[in-house]
Amino acid sequence: MLSSAEIIKKYINFFKKHEHVEIKGYPIVLQNDPTTLFTNSGMQPLVPYLLGEQHPEGNILVNVQNCFRSLDINEVGDNRHTTFFRMLGNWSLGAYFKEKQIPWFWEFLTKELNLPLDNLHITVFKGGEDIPRDEEALIIWEDILIKEGLDPKEKIHLYGFKENWWSRAGTPDNMPVDEPGGPSSEIFYEFTDVDHDMSYGEKCHPNCNCGKFVEIGNCVFMQYQKQNNGSFKKLSQKNVDFGGGLERLAAALNNNPDIFTTDLYEGVIKAIEDNSGKKYEKENMNSMRIIADHLKGAIFLIKDGVIPSNKEHGYILRRLLRRSAVKMHLLSGGSTPMGGFENICDEIIRIEENIPNSGINRSEQKNNIFNVIKNEMERFGKSLDNGLKEIEKLKNIKGKEFYLFQTFGFPIEIIEELAKQKNKEIDIEIFYKELEAHRDLSRAASAGKFKGGLMDNQEMTIMGHTATHLLHQALRDTLGKHVHQTGSNITAERLRFDFNYKSALTDIQIKKIENIINQKISDNLPVYFEIIETKIAKKIGAIGLFQDSYGDKSKIYFIGGSGDKSSNAYSIEFCGGPHVDFTGKLKRVNIIKQESIGQGQQRIYAKVNI
Ligand code: SER
Repeated sequence: MLSSAEIIKKYINFFKKHEHVEIKGYPIVLQNDPTTLFTNSGMQPLVPYLLGEQHPEGNILVNVQNCFRSLDINEVGDNRHTTFFRMLGNWSLGAYFKEKQIPWFWEFLTKELNLPLDNLHITVFKGGEDIPRDEEALIIWEDILIKEGLDPKEKIHLYGFKENWWSRAGTPDNMPVDEPGGPSSEIFYEFTDVDHDMSYGEKCHPNCNCGKFVEIGNCVFMQYQKQNNGSFKKLSQKNVDFGGGLERLAAALNNNPDIFTTDLYEGVIKAIEDNSGKKYEKENMNSMRIIADHLKGAIFLIKDGVIPSNKEHGYILRRLLRRSAVKMHLLSGGSTPMGGFENICDEIIRIEENIPNSGINRSEQKNNIFNVIKNEMERFGKSLDNGLKEIEKLKNIKGKEFYLFQTFGFPIEIIEELAKQKNKEIDIEIFYKELEAHRDLSRAASAGKFKGGLMDNQEMTIMGHTATHLLHQALRDTLGKHVHQTGSNITAERLRFDFNYKSALTDIQIKKIENIINQKISDNLPVYFEIIETKIAKKIGAIGLFQDSYGDKSKIYFIGGSGDKSSNAYSIEFCGGPHVDFTGKLKRVNIIKQESIGQGQQRIYAKVNI
């Protein structure tokens, strides 16, 4: 049987044979993307290009992307949901469309992976308000199925917006203005040995959630963009955005719906069994899957530089680790020393190192990953047992039990989960109020403000983006060339920018930086990009965060200079865009706040005034 690594290789090679350029996967933490905490799909880093920006490596691309969906954290525990997963992706940025994507994907599944035709089912968008039924996809599928001797009426299933429309924000009513989206056509694998669970409805069908059918690939025909008045206009180009879940493809090849029995998890589950002294059987499965998934997710977040904290990325990491600790503690009857996690993590790292483009390198990363996990587990481990006993004693949890969080370090979601398991009443709203009154914890991070990770893509955020390039350069002019961006987040209201510097800035330094930026704005400098060889971009001093994830060619944004004078530009940065065309559009930038965020890093908040 094919290994997961072989599935990836086959997929990449298949699309390369069809003239796709392989691009590297992006990091899971996209520092330069204002719209999301984590890369949650293969298309996430490609949004500017789907909207019409030119991609440095061409308009037909393929890759495998590490993804993390924090929103799915509560779904983990069944046989197919995970927070961390891999997405196989191929894209047409205004090149081919349905006529090629649909037959290619079918060929890949049936000829390259040899999945049995009988088990495959297809879904197509049936149309809805404003957007017609996807007749083109229907005709292409009918043609393919008839040639295969299959009955299209049995194999094709029509669904509406909820199932067969894709955008980062979900259905059209949830999409912010400017967000791209489109109808999708998905392929499902039917696990014929699994019985339908009637509690999900009388009749089973591909989008029934009982687990008999599993989606293995999603072809999104991204051709629409939401407008101010809520309707849709056609994008300037018709795109294909394909995403296929590696774990689910491996499960289909295994003909077993439990992804935790594939080669991606088998060894990890074994290590959890050894560590807990329990078997991967009924009542233990849920906890073991959570531990396997959460530790894997944690390893990838740590690899990308996240450390446990009470905010944003760090808070999600803390939740993953502490939830794994609670689950392991309960599973093993409290007999597992925190250090036991090392064996499980080592097994994850060992498996992941052999997966193409995982970015995991055992000898280079193991120590750091272990240290971060060990520190967090030891800190929490000291109070874990007492905290669990305390929860056991309480009749209900209504707010004043805030001390559970403070003293025992239980993330609020874990208290909620334990309270529900033990049938205790919990008033989560009062709890949150207490939290906000006391401390630093951002409710946004914990309560899921980042639903789908999406904020907006409007003009103000584009201006904020150009302002960050000016700020970046102005900081380097003022504080020295060793200063560089370590993170950023932009909303329509303000921009936030993190950088390495030993101490808080003085008022004089802040004024100077502001003056430089505003001078560049009144100079009304042109903002433009060129696609150049990455080597040359580095040579001319382009600044950027993710040098490792760049391909041979890179998109470089310049502010100032022009044409053959571009190397004299004021700012030269690796960047996907988009940006305003002239700095004068910004009118004025004000620095409104600064704070130290630890580890030799400072954070600045600024506002663009127009
Ligand atoms: N964007 C789609 C998804 O995430 C297809 O890549 O499913």
